[in-house]
Amino acid sequence: MAKIPRIAVVGSANIDLTTFTDRFPKPGETILGQKFNLGFGGKGANQATAAKLCGAAVFMVARVGGDLFGPATIDNFKKIGIDATHVKQVEGVSSGVAPIFVEPSGQNRILVVKGANDELKPADVDAAADLLKAVDCIVLQFEIPLETVYYTVAFARKHRIRCMLNPAPAQPIDFNAVSDLDYFVPNESEAETVIGMPVKNVEDAKKCAEKLLGYGIRRVIITLGANGSLLAGKDGMEHLPAFPVRSIDSTGAGDAFIGSFAVFLGEGLPEREAVRRANLYAGLSTTGIGTQKSFYDRARFDAEWAARSQS
Ligand code: RIB
Repeated sequence: MAKIPRIAVVGSANIDLTTFTDRFPKPGETILGQKFNLGFGGKGANQATAAKLCGAAVFMVARVGGDLFGPATIDNFKKIGIDATHVKQVEGVSSGVAPIFVEPSGQNRILVVKGANDELKPADVDAAADLLKAVDCIVLQFEIPLETVYYTVAFARKHRIRCMLNPAPAQPIDFNAVSDLDYFVPNESEAETVIGMPVKNVEDAKKCAEKLLGYGIRRVIITLGANGSLLAGKDGMEHLPAFPVRSIDSTGAGDAFIGSFAVFLGEGLPEREAVRRANLYAGLSTTGIGTQKSFYDRARFDAEWAARSQS
């Protein structure tokens, strides 16, 4: 029986308002969308959910708003089985929300209003210190204040806890503050923004990963959508292809990758195998609508893996 990894996500929780549309309205124009979906989202909460569905013990450190969405989000964590002891409501601030637009191809565009996520401060990390010191891995994203991200990276380093950062949404970074990360996991556009060079194919991704490794980060994984992912370290780089799927909504696929990867690695799988499984887990998440709602549980995933890893 595999070890049950203990994973903490210090990150965001949003409410996703997803509209499916054939095209985007022009300025001043009103058009009819095709379909609407309301769901629990946020990169942090999505990664926590993927990790929980894959079998980890998961702890969330987050802030939600003093509105209807706040208690609903906390209840959702509890329903999934995520420890929400350190998820607190902030009065007078809205919850994080994300209007999302999905095209017929499954491609998405996301606007995030951070709301209460911006109230997650280093003091909140200190308040959760006992819990955080006891996990195998801490997972971070960029929908909370950067000062909290940097503080948590330093906390993880001090206590020798594996730390993964998903720099999403992308923004300029102080590389000194993240140089000792174990895993830096951007997608192509996030890699482009943080490094300032185009990432249009695997060769570009390799050049970008080279630069990121130059800042001292131990391992870099650049997720490449339907093209799989690039795994890079000082010892070399490898492109690991995606598994074919019928994609209808790619929202949250990066989150599915990170949450599942943290679990596969925490169970003790070799890194390359953990990335291959996370590629499949992320791909499968694009075959359903929404973010958390589209994530597979472990039994369904294992059945798919057994069928596809033979081929
Ligand atoms: O990665 C997908 C997520 O990005 C959505 O759930 C949305 O809330 C934004 O955070």
